[in-house]
Amino acid sequence: MKFFIDTANLDQIKEAQDLGILDGVTTNPSLMAKEGITGRDNILKHYVAICNIVDGDVSAEVIATDFEGMVKEGEELAGLHEQIVVKVPMIKEGIKAIKYFTDQGIRTNCTLVFSSGQALLAAKAGATYVSPFIGRLDDISTDGLNLIAEIRMIYDNYGFDTEILAASVRHTMHVIDCAKLGADVMTGPLSSILGLLKHPLTDIGLEQFLADYKKGN
Ligand code: G3P
Repeated sequence: MKFFIDTANLDQIKEAQDLGILDGVTTNPSLMAKEGITGRDNILKHYVAICNIVDGDVSAEVIATDFEGMVKEGEELAGLHEQIVVKVPMIKEGIKAIKYFTDQGIRTNCTLVFSSGQALLAAKAGATYVSPFIGRLDDISTDGLNLIAEIRMIYDNYGFDTEILAASVRHTMHVIDCAKLGADVMTGPLSSILGLLKHPLTDIGLEQFLADYKKGN
């Protein structure tokens, strides 16, 4: 399972990268705005800064919603750095753009996916990644994890190569549940990754080991 971090915060990206288990980064316009990164030039520079920190894929989202605009922006984003994956929204023009990028050898992440039918379309268009937003489904009393299970079944039925990137992960249990269901990738906040470290018996056991060591030294 690949671990991506879902942030545009360079300090958090560095912290995750330093752990040695980071496989990539996802961003979106809201996450960029949260870090105060505004204006096209600054945003493009920020993508390059992120690519220079991590070894893996970095999703960079198009803003255009028409086919020609998405193609123009996506080609510019893909040209910034070899690690860039062009993030395209799940709309009709987006599917056309993903198919175009696939034919050009440009990798894509189909975002804002909330149903298995949408995920099927993204795979048919050749998306590298599909991003079902599980947290936002949970927010409206719909089981986000069930969507991961449905997409896994559909992709396995036909051997689609598109990787299931569980997005809108909010906490550590989401990470574990996505792993159980066979999501290829999860993207979440740093806290969702660091939460995997925690167990009181680990802390108690380590404290005991260190105390016992001190007794004999
Ligand atoms: O990866 C998608 C993500 O950025 C959305 O997360 O928490 O805003 O639903 P959230």
